[in-house]
Amino acid sequence: MNKVAIVTGASSGIGKAISHAMISRNYCVIANGRTIKKADFQNNNVVISNADLLDERTPKDLLDLAIKSFGDLNYLFVNAGTIESGSIHDIDINKMCKMLRLKVESSFRLIYTALQ
Ligand SMILES: NC(=O)c1ccc[n+]([C@@H]2O[C@H](COP(=O)([O-])OP(=O)(O)OC[C@H]3O[C@@H](n4cnc5c(N)ncnc54)[C@H](OP(=O)(O)O)[C@@H]3O)[C@@H](O)[C@H]2O)c1
Repeated sequence: MNKVAIVTGASSGIGKAISHAMISRNYCVIANGRTIKKADFQNNNVVISNADLLDERTPKDLLDLAIKSFGDLNYLFVNAGTIESGSIHDIDINKMCKMLRLKVESSFRLIYTALQ
């Protein structure tokens, strides 16, 4: 049976590259990103999810999707993230806190749910 991975941040950059590399090596992938389109991944071994990781329901939804689609979960790539930076005069504190919720809280929720 093929190994199954969830990859977050799969709509661009590192997560997209990881997803394509895994698919080409016959892994099954749940590729998550709010803006992923079907055309980005045309392969039977990939299932796309457009969930927002800031939604507390998303970790369980992703896990359920992996089990329903491929019957297992072996790898979790917690890769999604944004980078906010700037001088103290320019920085938007709300965007900064949203970045931290995504990078820290949503990552922890996803890992916690998968390990359970
Ligand atoms: N590239 C670098 O030099 C560098 C340096 C330091 C750290 N990093 C970190 O490494 C990771 C990957 O970097 P990258 O350059 O490949 O990033 P990227 O191309 O900007 O991709 C970020 C991914 O995160 C997803 N994402 C953002 N907000 C989301 C949300 N609320 N819910 C679900 N998905 C969300 C985006 O998908 P959608 O917008 O489609 O949802 C996108 O797929 C990031 O965590 C980044 O902060 C990168």
